Amino acid sequence: MSPSLSKRLLIISNRLPTVIAQNEDGWSMKPGSGGLVTALAPIMRKNHGVWIGWPGCGDDAPLDKLLREFKDQQGYQLVPVPLSEEEVELYYRGFSNAAIWPMFHDLLGFCRFELPHWQAYNAVNQKFAAAIAEQAVPDDFVWVHDYQLMLVGAHLRDMGQQDRLAFFLHIPFPSPDLFRRLPWKIELIKGLLAYDQLGFQTLRDRRNFVQTATLLVPEVEVVSRKRHHTLLQWGDRIIKVGHYPISIDFTEFDQGARSHEVEDAAWYLHENLRGRQLVLGVDRLDYTKGIPERFLAFERALEKYPELIGRISLLQVVVPSRTLVPDYANLKEQLDQLAGRINARFGKPEWLPILYVFRCLERVQLLARYRTSEIALITPLRDGMNLVAKEYCASSVENNGVLILSEFAGAADQLGKHALLVNPYDTDGTADAIYQAFTMEPEERRQHMMHLRSDIRRNDVHRWLRRFVESADGDN
Ligand code: ADP
Ligand code: G6P
Repeated sequence: MSPSLSKRLLIISNRLPTVIAQNEDGWSMKPGSGGLVTALAPIMRKNHGVWIGWPGCGDDAPLDKLLREFKDQQGYQLVPVPLSEEEVELYYRGFSNAAIWPMFHDLLGFCRFELPHWQAYNAVNQKFAAAIAEQAVPDDFVWVHDYQLMLVGAHLRDMGQQDRLAFFLHIPFPSPDLFRRLPWKIELIKGLLAYDQLGFQTLRDRRNFVQTATLLVPEVEVVSRKRHHTLLQWGDRIIKVGHYPISIDFTEFDQGARSHEVEDAAWYLHENLRGRQLVLGVDRLDYTKGIPERFLAFERALEKYPELIGRISLLQVVVPSRTLVPDYANLKEQLDQLAGRINARFGKPEWLPILYVFRCLERVQLLARYRTSEIALITPLRDGMNLVAKEYCASSVENNGVLILSEFAGAADQLGKHALLVNPYDTDGTADAIYQAFTMEPEERRQHMMHLRSDIRRNDVHRWLRRFVESADGDN
């Protein structure tokens, strides 16, 4: 284990990695199920780490008691940063999700740039910085996550923090031309330059950042460029800018998908769909995920290749997200209408082209769908990585799935060679890929899926974590 992995970790993210629930036995707080939590939990436990974030629950939950119980059960501490309703509206729904999120996903048309949103973003980032300053001791590994907290490092510097600060961006970083449209571009890019280590998902994101920083802050110079990182100099500071594609816990999905419960659930699903291939989409309800475009491409496939009619269904599972941000609410309506129209046009009493489910699936049900679907149709307009693509492959234990993947997902860099890559804006091209996947022979499917699985097995989330943390000190 490297020296850095033995340091105490201070992880900071907008949301605490927990699920708070209330049932007849009272309130409970459990760790979330994401790969990041799974990878970090063991070293958080070992080194008595601290995770700082917004609890995201209402005032009625007994937060102090839940946090104490969490620490006793999980072995690491959570520190809440409570946010008022106004802060949530302006900082979270406003600047984070109606300015940065669309802009960083190349969707300028969805952006709302409003001064009060920016001011609240700045103020909430300062609030997070104050919470960190209260917890941090020298030699901690302070690691801030994602686009909601890009200014935290700069506020920590203003508070006199001298120690190393690391940041990882989970979403894409836009081109300099797009970034320049932001009214507060200089403040934001300088804010990011306050960190010592900046991690991006892909080489493209890293290059976009380096180009933007050197364009907007002329005193920033490139000192060296290596395969995995670029060193920048700004005044007397050196900033390491690397790319570290995030991943999943492969073993957890692989073993989970082989369990009896999942096998039974998968069998049951296919019993109801006998003789048909299932095409799967699993996403948060988000306009970056390209779900309407996917429905239209599926419709085009049915038009263009009538032999698919009655022999293929698209199962689209959508989990509600950011429901109070206006563009998210509109999307739900758009999907309802599209699915209704396509089903009315092609459906028969015994077959529906689009099975559309609007909810969060439980683990076993999610894995059963991953395992049993012959095709995954993952077509974001832009995505930092897209973990669903990796989860699908890790759960495809029979090696019979075909991955259709957007070329604009970060995951395409790694998985593109053995997936069918599509441009989600190209309806006909995506329709052709659906047909190609449908008609792909079992041996070809097996070859591609074996390569995909072995790549994800090797490059799992544990390796991602090691690479990021070790890169802070080392030369890699
Ligand atoms: P994003 O981070 O933008 O939501 P990712 O694909 O990287 O996109 O990650 C999404 C995560 O949410 C995955 O771990 C996936 O399993 C989970 N998820 C998405 N939709 C659902 C759903 N309907 N039910 C259960 N889990 C879901
Ligand atoms: C993406 C972002 C995360 C965010 C998640 C869920 O994965 O990169 O930072 O937490 O979406 O979105 P939410 O707004 O519900 O936290």
